[in-house]
Amino acid sequence: MRVAKAGVVGAGTMGAAIAELLAFNGIEVVLKDVDAPTVEKGLARVRSIVDDLVRYQAERAPKEVERIEALAGDLTDAQRARIAAQLAPRFSRARGDEVVARVHGVTEYDAFREVDLAIEAVFERPEVKRPVLESLDRVLPDYAALGSNTSSLSITRLARGLRHVRETLVVHFFNPPYTLPLVEVAGGVDTREDVVVETIDFLQGLKNHRYPLVPIRVKESPAFVVNRLLAPVLAEACAALEAGLASSRDIDAAMKAGAGQPMGPFELADLVGLDVSLEVAESLYREFGDPKFRPPVLLRRLVDAGHLGRKTGQGFYEYPEA
Ligand SMILES: NC(=O)c1ccc[n+]([C@@H]2O[C@H](COP(=O)([O-])OP(=O)(O)OC[C@H]3O[C@@H](n4cnc5c(N)ncnc54)[C@H](O)[C@@H]3O)[C@@H](O)[C@H]2O)c1
Repeated sequence: MRVAKAGVVGAGTMGAAIAELLAFNGIEVVLKDVDAPTVEKGLARVRSIVDDLVRYQAERAPKEVERIEALAGDLTDAQRARIAAQLAPRFSRARGDEVVARVHGVTEYDAFREVDLAIEAVFERPEVKRPVLESLDRVLPDYAALGSNTSSLSITRLARGLRHVRETLVVHFFNPPYTLPLVEVAGGVDTREDVVVETIDFLQGLKNHRYPLVPIRVKESPAFVVNRLLAPVLAEACAALEAGLASSRDIDAAMKAGAGQPMGPFELADLVGLDVSLEVAESLYREFGDPKFRPPVLLRRLVDAGHLGRKTGQGFYEYPEA
């Protein structure tokens, strides 16, 4: 699959980051949301993802010098110069500007008439996703692939009756896509095999800020692999918290220090968004009816209160800077 131009609908947490990832790989991207201010927020997020990478690269050498000097005393000018050469930024401000310039904010679907691949990353609700897919279906060229970043909904149901039903598939990125390389790819009942295979091939050729992407093929099934395993962990963490087993900080610390996980279940849920985590649990429970997937009441209460995690400044923890 040759993707010269791509389109992303939904310029939120995932959509903006997916647009950045595509642009980082040299692809022109149109990024759509409901209105101009929301699109602007998405573009600002693209800029800040790129800025973080530029800053990270620029700081690598001085930080390494600082680290070594703290351990072993002052370095010579020659040693410093060698470290500066070895850790010279590979991603300059100018390259960052090019990436940002490849992402074009739009509010209309007209801009999707020439894209080879469109990805929707709007709210995880069928009544929001389906009209977006229908709008894309009307404007996309026949050959275009239509991806959904859904975490848990049935792609077969979402794609039913679309002109692009055979080109529609799940392309499920992880948060944040610029550092997490996994993409779960799943076709629906009617998806063409070559579309799934070519999409995986295309993704395999991309890199995020740290790694080559790792696309894996999964069967269409609620929450696929990663979220299916994570949902019961969060539910059990909530049960443990409510039973007074330990504080949320200590439960997170336990899973990091004792199970080698990079983040605890509450920190991770706050990053993912509690509304997204709840939708995932609900869809697993709805589909399988198994009590191990029952959404935790505590999670539902936090969502009812509008405490959705990092993005709203409060979830299991508070984020005053948000
Ligand atoms: N947040 C995560 O960690 C994560 C990880 C993987 C997948 N996902 C999935 O990605 C999708 C988006 O999640 P998110 O966390 O980015 O949500 P978000 O709330 O941050 O962003 C959703 C965006 O979609 C926009 N939107 C809503 N309706 C629209 C419409 N009709 N047309 C255009 N734009 C519209 C909203 O204005 C918002 O900017 C969901 O399907 C979610 O399950 C999320």
